[in-house]
Amino acid sequence: MSILVTGGTGYIGSHTCVELLNAGYDIVVVDNFCNSSPMAADRVREITGKDFKVYRCDIRDRDGLKKIFEEEKIDAAIHFAGLKAVGESCQKPLEYYENNIWGTVALLEVMRDAGCKTIVFSSSATVYGSENKVPFNETMPVGTATNPYGTTKIYIENILQDLYKSDNGWSVSLLRYFNPIGAHPSGRIGENPNGIPNNLMPYIAQIAVGKREKLSIFGDDYPTPDGTGVRDYIHVVDLALGHIKALDRALGKTGVDIYNLGTGIGYSVLDIVKTFIEVNGVDIPYEIGPRRPGDIAECYANADKAAKELGWKAERTLADMCRDTWNWQKNNPNGYEN
Ligand code: NAD
Ligand code: UFG
Repeated sequence: MSILVTGGTGYIGSHTCVELLNAGYDIVVVDNFCNSSPMAADRVREITGKDFKVYRCDIRDRDGLKKIFEEEKIDAAIHFAGLKAVGESCQKPLEYYENNIWGTVALLEVMRDAGCKTIVFSSSATVYGSENKVPFNETMPVGTATNPYGTTKIYIENILQDLYKSDNGWSVSLLRYFNPIGAHPSGRIGENPNGIPNNLMPYIAQIAVGKREKLSIFGDDYPTPDGTGVRDYIHVVDLALGHIKALDRALGKTGVDIYNLGTGIGYSVLDIVKTFIEVNGVDIPYEIGPRRPGDIAECYANADKAAKELGWKAERTLADMCRDTWNWQKNNPNGYEN
């Protein structure tokens, strides 16, 4: 069984490639490397001892994708490729709509023409917006995104639902990720952000390694136990394993299935900082700054549906997430660059 992994050299994609290979799937990776390094694929080969093909191809390039489908026998796609920086999406909305939405449409057209109708899509908890109450569950109506990145996730979910309505032969899985952090325990693959990290954990990791001075905590006046924002942090390896379970199920059926991939536990910014310090024995200086526009107070999953239908549950602890992040960062202070 051969799986096309778009964005397979990215952060979540590379970890999922490891688990796909470990589970006995063959994989074909497509990436344009706009936010990743081909070295991630070498590291995946090293971790698993297995080889696979990597195509440098933009998913908006229909002809390029078509060729790959002609050369390879592909049974399903896991679709990670996309731009993901919330702040940047507000500066460059057209680039985000063009890349994420048109890229997905191009991929779907090529898949349809090749008769490959199983897709697992990287959605996000951001689709719940600020209208719903935590814990978020899959039966809640989709909310309003506060930024173009989030809007692309909502649109793409709609496109995939419409596609299924038009042709019941499709099998669509919409996986709504909460906050993926951590790295493979080998320390060989991990998150490698360009420039100044937007997200909490990579920022903390860069302070620990001496690249940044101090964390600014975005607000301590939220209605949460310690006043700082609460999120559902999930170890990227648990998230990757969730994809395997979703794929196993999707291959045997048709329809649209939506799953939250989270732990169901909310931790505050201060919980993360304190655990990182404790587990790794490093200092993380911080100060309280103003709230970041667009942030919500709390975001965590009800993860019961994935447990019930997929038999999947996140197992790694916050301490595991902090330890594995640091193991990756200290061994690769410049990411995949030496
Ligand atoms: P990432 O940037 O590390 O990986 C995305 C990959 O897609 C990169 O390797 C990039 O080079 C590639 N890519 C982007 N546009 C492409 C295109 N047009 N053609 C080919 N390749 C392209 O990001 P990630 O954190 O691994 O996220 C993977 C997916 O999960 C994304 O769709 C993201 O929106 C979604 N997601 C991520 C998070 C998170 O916090 N990391 C949360 C929710 C959802
Ligand atoms: N935070 C800080 N300081 C920082 C960075 C973040 O205090 O320097 C805080 C935020 O205010 C928030 C928490 O840490 O309370 C987590 O922030 P992240 O930026 O790490 O993550 P978000 O929850 O804002 O966003 C993430 C992904 C989005 C996705 C969203 C969906 O980055 O792509 O989860 O749940 F849409």
